[in-house]
Amino acid sequence: MDLLDKLRAIATRLEPHAHDRFRPFLTTIDSLINPGEVIIQGRRTLMFGSNNYLGLTSHPEVIAAAKHALDLYGSGTTGSRIANGTLGEHEALEQDFAKFFGKRAATIFTTGYQANLGMIGALCGPGDVVMLDAESHASICDATRLSGAEVVWVQHNSPANLAKKLGRLPKLQRNRLVVVEGLYSIRGDVAPLREIVEVCRQYGAYILVDEAHSFGIYGERGLGWSEEQGVLDQVDFLVGTFSKTLGGVGGFCVSDHLELREAYFLARAYAFTASGTPASIAGVRAALAIIGRDPSFRERLWRNVRGFRAGLTGVGYDVGPYESPLIPVYTGPEHITMALWQGLLESGVYVNLVIPPGCPKDQCLLRTSDPITRIRGREFKYRDAILIPTYHPAYLLRTPSAKREVWEDMKRVRAILNGDT
Ligand SMILES: Cc1ncc(COP(=O)(O)O)c(C=O)c1O
Repeated sequence: MDLLDKLRAIATRLEPHAHDRFRPFLTTIDSLINPGEVIIQGRRTLMFGSNNYLGLTSHPEVIAAAKHALDLYGSGTTGSRIANGTLGEHEALEQDFAKFFGKRAATIFTTGYQANLGMIGALCGPGDVVMLDAESHASICDATRLSGAEVVWVQHNSPANLAKKLGRLPKLQRNRLVVVEGLYSIRGDVAPLREIVEVCRQYGAYILVDEAHSFGIYGERGLGWSEEQGVLDQVDFLVGTFSKTLGGVGGFCVSDHLELREAYFLARAYAFTASGTPASIAGVRAALAIIGRDPSFRERLWRNVRGFRAGLTGVGYDVGPYESPLIPVYTGPEHITMALWQGLLESGVYVNLVIPPGCPKDQCLLRTSDPITRIRGREFKYRDAILIPTYHPAYLLRTPSAKREVWEDMKRVRAILNGDT
């Protein structure tokens, strides 16, 4: 066996697309017009696939704060937090987070991925147990694997299964951590947190909630799904990322456990990596302040979500049952999904492609979101935007059966449009 065989197998799998204009997972954005519109291969393209839910990457206050920090501190910190990489901005942002959440301690990390790696690594090691939801994000799975703790998989969003598995562990021990996400990023479903928190309380387990996609979106103050569910004070560790609503790069953890302050000593993903760049940290501070003072961003986002979902279901797409800013468009087999994705890009619409191993076989999807900055009416409307590729030559697919399926799909959509169904 050659080490390079694994990489060669990927090349073989994607070989049919090697000469396509749009190759899966290799899209390059040339430039940005606004968070809702970008230039790809020299053409204006509507962005329906970012996590820039509130459009804050381009907010004038965020840009001004980042520019100011660049002038003040330069482009990078050239060191980790435990060496020369802690600036006043890093500590100020930690204080901002603690205050915003009303928690006693906060720590920031260089990425959201590292926030999970750092926190799970600092809390758990050999001899400890981490209970993981079956649909956990890669950063959570990797963190657990690296920690050396025992992993117990729990059925997705099942408090009953969690209780059963916790019940099998030796009693009266405090060496177990339950990790769940507020909003799951592929299907857009949320965790039954009230029930999960209750199970953790009954069995004496600590709980860490990753609010990567839910921070800034749920809750009266935008603190996330834990706030929305009324369990903010019962969650031991809240983790999040700067790379979605906050429009930057980095991650955070807040907690009422003051021991969080000592995590830096054990969290290798904190101690052995350079800290966040000054511009990014300052931009995130500005974004956090905006989220804290202006709920209208969230309100506009939810209006968009409802409109976009209604538009997609209106023309016959299956978007699943969950109303959230992550809107999956279920497309089934991989070849159909790939063709739809390419057809959309050809027509000037970017969405995210989800194929195995990102989902089970034949349960592929296009992952969409509709940031609040969309300039409606200037280009085509979203409904039409999604429909256009249905009639595009990109659909003239490689295999006769794929072609037939797409023709059926086209007929279905056409019938809906004509009011025949
Ligand atoms: C649930 C979850 N946790 C963590 C991360 C990692 O965040 P980052 O991109 O900031 O590293 C992501 C990113 O998509 C995520 O979805």
